[in-house]
Amino acid sequence: MTKLTSQDYMALEDKYGAHNYHPLPVVLERGEGVFMWDVEGNKYYDFLSAYSAVNQGHCHPAIVGAMIDQAKKLTLTSRAFYNNVLGEFEQYATQYFGYDKLLPMNTGAEADETALKLARRWGAKKKGIKNEDIKIICCEGNFHGRTITIISMSNDPDSFANYGPLTPGFIRIPYNDSKALEKVLEEHGKTVAGFLVEPIQGEAGVFVPDEGYLKTCADLCKKHNVLFIADEVQTGLARTGKMLACDHESVRPDILILGKALSGGVLPVSAVLADDDIMLNIKPGEHGSTYGGNPVACKVAMAALQVLKDEKLTEKSEYLGNIFREELSKFNHPMKELVRGKGLLNAIVIKPHKGKTAWDFCLKMKENGLLAKPTHEHIVRFAPPLVITEEQLRECIEIIKKTFKDFE
Ligand SMILES: Cc1ncc(COP(=O)(O)O)c(C=O)c1O
Repeated sequence: MTKLTSQDYMALEDKYGAHNYHPLPVVLERGEGVFMWDVEGNKYYDFLSAYSAVNQGHCHPAIVGAMIDQAKKLTLTSRAFYNNVLGEFEQYATQYFGYDKLLPMNTGAEADETALKLARRWGAKKKGIKNEDIKIICCEGNFHGRTITIISMSNDPDSFANYGPLTPGFIRIPYNDSKALEKVLEEHGKTVAGFLVEPIQGEAGVFVPDEGYLKTCADLCKKHNVLFIADEVQTGLARTGKMLACDHESVRPDILILGKALSGGVLPVSAVLADDDIMLNIKPGEHGSTYGGNPVACKVAMAALQVLKDEKLTEKSEYLGNIFREELSKFNHPMKELVRGKGLLNAIVIKPHKGKTAWDFCLKMKENGLLAKPTHEHIVRFAPPLVITEEQLRECIEIIKKTFKDFE
């Protein structure tokens, strides 16, 4: 049998797959740590980490090992029965993050949906808002996933256009504008159940809010008896140089949403954490998921969380992120507008140059052995696995600089 080439694999996806993605033209078949290899055997640094799912590095042996061990014993029971791993995971994760309870789901979007349901439920049962009046505040530029309700919060037409009718009950305010939150809360606070926010907006292009924003918002929420809900699906789990991005401002969300790196990229695992006063408003039969809390996911998640601590990935992320921004901030090029980010969640804003865009820049980086992807037209996100070493990071910085120079 002749071996298929990258072109063949891309043609297969194009012919038989829905066209809802526009991948960079590289076909990967293997990953280890910070590296991925394509089907022709070319080696690349991964600077996307599957949108920050692979914080622990590709195919981390402890995580894959946990998956294999559990997969040989029991994979899925559904929640119709108890299993002997879920409780252990719930205890582990609630102690790890300091909450009373955890609700397991699979994808980030499902966890966000769960958080919205929890907030609405709490609003009705505890705050006494009439169900039809309940509002959730969200931010312009948000990205929380792809379900109909979640895209109903979006102001990006690519996300919501022609998918109507959308879900009502959201008030959208500018991001990084605590005054806007204050105003809405003063006007509508009595009918608002929650404020949903990404501590750093990842998909929007790594927008880091001003220092103090999260704390001010959390305080405002407290004042108006509104739940502060943090979507840490992308920013959480050591990505930004703290275990949670909210930790930068010592903010403890009332509802914490986790996903992506909760499995180290091994399988979809997400979770919502909250205290009893919030979580216990959902009763048996009122929410769930067939795969949520399955034993493989639970073992994988515990291993993934343990790796973050054992390998000090929070500290590494903070230390290496500073080097990344420092080195690339002082590098000047007509195609480079600015570098921003926190920890190892960074972006470079690209200025179109001689007709070349962020997409061309990513294609060139690929040729130079580094994979990243534009988010929107002019922003390239740089988010390597946190297991990257300083030496590797410095090599990557040189690749990025070389790529800029290739456009001279
Ligand atoms: C902040 C945030 N929330 C939610 C999601 C959705 O996660 P998933 O794609 O697993 O549904 C993403 C994905 O990029 C995200 O960045």
